[in-house]
Amino acid sequence: MTLPFKSHIAKLPAYKPPAVPPGVERVIDLSSNENPLGPSPKAMAALQAAVGTVNRYPDASSMALKVALAERLGLIPGNIGLGNGADEWVLLLCLSLLEPGDEVIMAKGSFISYLLRVIEVGAKLVQVPMKDHTHDLEAMADAVGDKTRLVFVCNPNNPTGTVVNADAMEVFLERVPERIPVVVDEAYYEYAVADPGYAGRSVDYLRDGRKNLIVLRSFSKVYGLAGLRVGYMLAGEEMIDYAERARPPFNVNRLAQVAALAALDDDEHVRRSLESNEAAKRFFYRELAALGLRYIPTHTNFMAVDVGRPGSEVSGSLLERGFITTATDGWGVPNHVRFSFGAPEENAAFIAALGETVN
Ligand SMILES: Cc1ncc(COP(=O)(O)O)c(C=O)c1O
Repeated sequence: MTLPFKSHIAKLPAYKPPAVPPGVERVIDLSSNENPLGPSPKAMAALQAAVGTVNRYPDASSMALKVALAERLGLIPGNIGLGNGADEWVLLLCLSLLEPGDEVIMAKGSFISYLLRVIEVGAKLVQVPMKDHTHDLEAMADAVGDKTRLVFVCNPNNPTGTVVNADAMEVFLERVPERIPVVVDEAYYEYAVADPGYAGRSVDYLRDGRKNLIVLRSFSKVYGLAGLRVGYMLAGEEMIDYAERARPPFNVNRLAQVAALAALDDDEHVRRSLESNEAAKRFFYRELAALGLRYIPTHTNFMAVDVGRPGSEVSGSLLERGFITTATDGWGVPNHVRFSFGAPEENAAFIAALGETVN
């Protein structure tokens, strides 16, 4: 007797962390775009104070966090849905908005979660090639057809670190019909927002009442809370009211809610994180140029370097030297390896290992 498995799910790769070869003593994980400074000290204090309450279920609506976010963003709690990381919303939006056979537009060379979750619900991917490692919004708007039910724009983009320009985004949103939800994934928003060319006006569009725009943001990156899993979706009230029906009630745990609320108030930690990220970026630009390697300029806390051969060959050699990185070939960006910025000493050790690997 065969178990009732679905063929399109059976074809999905299960998520497997990279296996570190035996004998490698020191492992530095530069594969997940985390904050090397650690969590916000305010979040850590709040966690310690709340630990004795975990016999209770969390607030299923995460209301205190919603109110704080709404105040910061000039929105109302009804514009916000909290998730077990922004990643949970990628899944829940695919589950709640797509039927098998529906088409979903994304860039070829963008966040792999979209691809996996679209396949998971039996929908069809339309992957639009990028231009200069950046979303080609004109081509993506051209790709919209009768069967299109969802569009993903990752801004800044993972794994290339590139951003779409504010004017291009405005034209794009005007061109996509209002019946088609557009997800703009801004998990790395805080790293890019100071750049005048960055299309960071998405919350303004929501305030103006745009119904088909969905913005995703995360506490995993600049706020340093990846291990607690908190992310959120911003959208019009109608969309939130609908999508919240697909959400498991206690998806954001008590400690995650408490820590995110405290981290949101820790401007100093965000400032320090952005400052050290800029220093790491300058270090890598200089060192990669010295190694004669081309790289994609980044607006995030990671970058992709052109290694001139399949990325997995280089990431495999780096793993033997104790560095976990991501080969982006399977993401649609061939011959590149993506790495997160670590602490200064980790970055120096990584550059030395990369130099040994590629030369
Ligand atoms: C573009 C993008 N979106 C969403 C996520 C998921 O973030 P979270 O940790 O909030 O689930 C990531 C995580 O790496 C990401 O790179």
